[in-house]
Amino acid sequence: MQARDRIIVAIDRSSRDEILRTVDALTGTVGVFKIGLQAFIANGPSIVREIVSRGEKVFLDLKIHDIPNTAKHAVAEAASLGAFMLTVHATGGEAMLRAAAEAAPGSPLLVLGVTILTSLDAPAMESIGFRDEPLGAAVRLARLAKESGLRGVVASPHEITAIREACGGDLVIVTPGIRPEGSDAGDQRRTTTPAAAIAAGADYIVVGRPITEARDARAAALQISDRLSVAG
Ligand code: C5P
Repeated sequence: MQARDRIIVAIDRSSRDEILRTVDALTGTVGVFKIGLQAFIANGPSIVREIVSRGEKVFLDLKIHDIPNTAKHAVAEAASLGAFMLTVHATGGEAMLRAAAEAAPGSPLLVLGVTILTSLDAPAMESIGFRDEPLGAAVRLARLAKESGLRGVVASPHEITAIREACGGDLVIVTPGIRPEGSDAGDQRRTTTPAAAIAAGADYIVVGRPITEARDARAAALQISDRLSVAG
């Protein structure tokens, strides 16, 4: 994989025109475009089709969490849309994860298990019934995702090393909370740099505002991929 292929750009926007302008501006500089709930609910599945028809890869970040049958059919629809990656919550449990993993046989769709949302701290986790710390819970859920047949997980920067050790080299790890040297952390806490995340064992990094809100988005993306190439 080339350095730029590891970069996923989160396009957290509602306007179809703005989304497609961002995709067109970044073509050839990044590997994947992340469409989350905001962009998907505002525009529907056609936004995915439009990006896929440009020959680009789409990470559909819908964080599915439902009964196995519903999850299975939702995953199959994402596969038929041509998405490259799709998220489901690992806390949906083994049966849901297995149904998701088996929903689209033969499709290249990479179903990723979301471990623990980084917005949950230890007291918030305890209040919804978790008995372990965020790191321990993330490793436990990554293992569950892998044992249930998923090929990848989403995890925060400080969980990458422990998940890599627990789950081995084959599990794809996607990491948000990335901030290039010198950029504004915004509302992100406990961030890491692109090169540090890859060095810790991440396969893909999710970068949003440092690219989408840069004066020159293309230059910002190229700078990140240059730094990754040098580090790699
Ligand atoms: O703009 P920024 O780089 O903070 O965007 C990061 C993206 O990754 C957003 O789409 C955000 O929802 C997502 N994300 C995150 N932390 C998680 C999971 C997803 O920041 N734990």
